[in-house]
This record gives sequence, C-alpha cells and structure tokens, in this order.
Amino acid sequence: MEGKDFRMVAKTMYGLEDVLVKELETIGAKNIEKLNRAVSFEGDMTMLYKANYLLRTAISILKPIYSFEANNEKELYDNVYKYKWEKLINCDGTLSIEPVVYSSIFTHSLYASQKTKDAICDRIRKMFLQRPTLTKDNPDIILNLHINENQVTISLDSSGESLHRRNYRLATEKAPINEVVAAGLIQLSGWERDTNFFDPMCGSGTIVIEAAMYAYNIPAQYYRHNFAFKKWADFSMPEYRRMRQQADKQIRDFDYEIWGSDISGSAIKTATENIANAKLHKDIELFRSDIQEQDPPKGKTLIITNPPYGQRIETDDLFDLYDLIGRVFKNKYSGNTAWIISSDLDAFKYVGLRPSRKITIYNSNLECRFCKYELYEGSKKVSKKM
Ligand SMILES: C[S@@+](CC[C@H](N)C(=O)[O-])C[C@H]1O[C@@H](n2cnc3c(N)ncnc32)[C@H](O)[C@@H]1O
Repeated sequence: MEGKDFRMVAKTMYGLEDVLVKELETIGAKNIEKLNRAVSFEGDMTMLYKANYLLRTAISILKPIYSFEANNEKELYDNVYKYKWEKLINCDGTLSIEPVVYSSIFTHSLYASQKTKDAICDRIRKMFLQRPTLTKDNPDIILNLHINENQVTISLDSSGESLHRRNYRLATEKAPINEVVAAGLIQLSGWERDTNFFDPMCGSGTIVIEAAMYAYNIPAQYYRHNFAFKKWADFSMPEYRRMRQQADKQIRDFDYEIWGSDISGSAIKTATENIANAKLHKDIELFRSDIQEQDPPKGKTLIITNPPYGQRIETDDLFDLYDLIGRVFKNKYSGNTAWIISSDLDAFKYVGLRPSRKITIYNSNLECRFCKYELYEGSKKVSKKM
C-alpha cells in the first residue's frame, strides 16, 4: 500500500548521523538529508512505521506539521492558536509537549512550551468548552516544539519513549552503554557480519546483544510494541502488522561466534538475563573471566569493548587496567581488529597502541573517543602516546 509522502526527521546522537543516513538508504527512504544530530527524509506512513521499527541509530522519528516565525511570546501564542489542533487532538484527550529551544528570544524552554500549550488548549476549549489534559503518562499525542532563534517547528513525535529503549534489557550494571550508541559503534566499525564478535568487558551485555541483532538482521524494535503513532487517528493496524511481518522475514542465519566476557559475576548474571529475555541465549556465549585470562574465539574476530570510565566507575587503578587491555590486545588478539570506546582520554594513552582511527561520539552526555586498533604480530606498545 503506497500512501502520500511527507517529510520526517530521525533524531540521533552526535557522531551517528552518517550511519543513520546509510540505514535510511537501506530501508528505502527518499530525499535523505543529513542534519546536526538528525537526518531528514521523505516517505509515507509505512515508512514512518518502518523507520521506528528498523532504524538502530535513531532515538525518535518526528513528523513536522507546522512551521512559522515568532519574534516574541505573543507571536508564538498567536501562530500556535491558528493551527487546526482540533483535527488532531480530542478535547477529552491527553497531550504532552517536549520543548527543544535554542533561542535568545525564548530563553526558558518550559515557558515556551507553556505558551504553546495555552494556545492549543484555548483554541480547543473555545470550540468544545473542554480542553485536553496535559500528561507525561502515555499521552495520546506527543508534540515536539523546536525553536531555533525565531524559527518554530512543531512536530508529532511518532516514537514516544526514546527508541534506545528496545525492551530487551531487564536490568543494567553500572555505566551501561546506550543501545543506540552500541548499535552505532558496531556500524561505525564497518563490520560486514563476516567474522566472530567479542566484547571482553561486556557488563550487562548491550554491545553483544546489539551485535547479535545486527548479525541476525533482527529488527531494532523486535521486542517493543509501544510506539506513539499507534494512538494517531490515521494509524493502520493491518499495514503496521504487514510491515512488521515483512521485516521479520528478513531475519537470517549467522555462521560465526558472538562472545561476551566480564570479570564481574553480577555483570554476567545481568547479561545472561538480558540475553535470555532477547531469546539470544543460543547465539551469544558468555564467560565470567578477567580480560587477561580470556582468549577470544578462534578465527577472525572483531572486538568492541567499553572499559570502565573514570567518571562513572571507581577503579583502583584505571590506568593499569588500560595498560593491561593494551597488552592483552597485543599478545592475544593479533590478526584481529579491536575498538575501544571510552571518555577517559588520559586512560586511553595507557593502552599504548597506536589507533588507526579515532571517532568522537557521545554516550548519553559524555564525550567519548571510539578508537580502532589493527592488531598484528609484533604490534608495538608505545609509551602513553596515541
Ligand atoms: C563500562 S562497563 C561496560 C558496560 C557495558 N557496555 C554495558 O552496556 O553494560 C565496564 C565493565 O568492565 C568490567 N571489567 C573491569 N575490569 C575488568 C577486567 N579486568 N576484565 C574483564 N572485565 C572487566 C566491569 O566489570 C564492567 O562490567
């Protein structure tokens, strides 16, 4: 079923825009345009469902519905009031407004969202003598209010809860990596899904789970059923089901090993539960062991790992640990490629191997480096230099 095309915006994190462009190309989005921490594209309602269901590196999919200029609060209120909100929001319905404001005119984002809410509710009350209720608790309609100086765009948020919430993680250990970031790292590494995969500091298992989902082509939101668009008046359950079935048919086999290990028994317990919850227990092997005692799987292996960061985990000697990681990489992983993500730039120097690539990326609000090490027989440890 082909519907009318419209513009959408997929929001992501700094450093993942190019990966998201590729993902959108793969799912057949049209007129893709890279933005700052977002990518815009066109497609119909089925594309909107697909974008939510399949994109691994998007955090939300917005459908812009109304743009205008506002140079003061009155203009903001008056312009919002003009839109036919009654076509979208029931007078006895529920609503939430998420403001994202970068403006010298509107310096308080909550105040701008209050004005917007007043204009919408005043208009609906004038017509129906009743106004929608504002709530954060599973509202019928979620509006995203974006103000860039005097340019205002109001969008429908089609995702609701952030898309990093894949619904497979039952519990987390200290400092879990965000699922969208984990998926982004795997794609940034250029993994062609033609080698083994190993995370020797796997914590709650996010990176190995995202690797397995990518390897087996399991849709990003395979375990999730809650999307804001399901409450829209034009939502088509048959079309949504058809889209899911078609995507699920693309799940395929993977002939290599996916391993995770961690020194902490509690981390392995959490990872085991999360992996079982994702029904990936037959596809991922877990080991409780110190990185220096754990050999990688036999055969070509891609290693991606997220060691403790100074800011988030107290480690007796973080620098010694990074030095150990460097030695393990050099001595045990030769012939393979390994990547480390960390926000601790000082600790990175102790790895003592020269990275062949350094990418800046954010994990939640922490600025990190994602560094690539090509490990070959005789890789040299250098003294604290990157
Ligand atoms: C930042 S956490 C990893 C978080 C993980 N990516 C997740 O999403 O939950 C770092 C992990 O390194 C583990 N670790 C610390 N020292 C280790 C060592 N010597 N060998 C193996 N794992 C170690 C910790 O137990 C912790 O689970």
